[in-house]
Amino acid sequence: MQTLREVIEEARDAHRGIGHFNVSDSNQLNAVVEASKNTSLPVIIGASEGERKFFGVRALAAVVAAMKAQMNRTYLNADHTYSLELVKEAIDAGFDAVIFDGSHLSLEENIAQTRAAVAYARASGRDVLVEGEIGRIGTSSKLLDKAPEDIDTELTTPDDAARFVRETGVDLLAPAVGTMHGRLKSGPMPRINAQRIEEIREAAGVPLVLHGGSGSTDEDFVAAVKAGISIVHINTDIRIAYRKGIEAGLSKDADEIAPYRFLQPGVDGVRAETERYLKLFALK
Ligand code: G3H
Ligand code: ZN
Repeated sequence: MQTLREVIEEARDAHRGIGHFNVSDSNQLNAVVEASKNTSLPVIIGASEGERKFFGVRALAAVVAAMKAQMNRTYLNADHTYSLELVKEAIDAGFDAVIFDGSHLSLEENIAQTRAAVAYARASGRDVLVEGEIGRIGTSSKLLDKAPEDIDTELTTPDDAARFVRETGVDLLAPAVGTMHGRLKSGPMPRINAQRIEEIREAAGVPLVLHGGSGSTDEDFVAAVKAGISIVHINTDIRIAYRKGIEAGLSKDADEIAPYRFLQPGVDGVRAETERYLKLFALK
């Protein structure tokens, strides 16, 4: 089976994007993997610190390893990790990739801590990819009344991106290019700046990752991928699909107590949403 590094390189060369979807439990995981199988496209499973804790770090790594053994192109990423301790935990558990998120730190401190995360990955004896983040785009994948106050109003500059990559040695870079985590309950979402993506891609020289995908238009996603985004993160939209499906499953029959029955519409919703996004990012 191809390694995650190979899959990303292939996507970058072909100017296509790979979908990254966050999961908290095995129902969402199965739905995302099924979407990958149905579309014959690779997928990255993401689990943030809270999601990993809920699922169980080692349990999640073991389930995904078993799926890989069946030749699925399913990869596992430790999303938004704020401490080196938890970066190490994910690498030791067998994750394919980790994100050290130092976007809330000064650039200097972010560089120093990200470099330490890269050193740990390199010493692991496995090809674990490390992603670094610059630019604050919010922290929660949820429905928002208004944009968070602590997000950067300026986009990442190509100079900062180049310096960050050079001084940390990261494999992947997540810059701030217009998106934010979560989705506004009403009103238009910020637009993605495709031109800035192109400039950062040239300056950084490593594959770029777009966070905060939910709420962007299909047109913006396509432009972002064509401009140089290799991985797109979606969380809020599949959380919404999961909850809506479960609500529908529960309201269908007040006496239904079999979880595999009342949860199934939630799984179906996540699978459908994931399939749509996988095809969109792969420009299919
Ligand atoms: O890392 C997770 C993502 O960046 C998800 O962002 O919840 O806005 O789709 P989203
Ligand atoms: Zn993110």
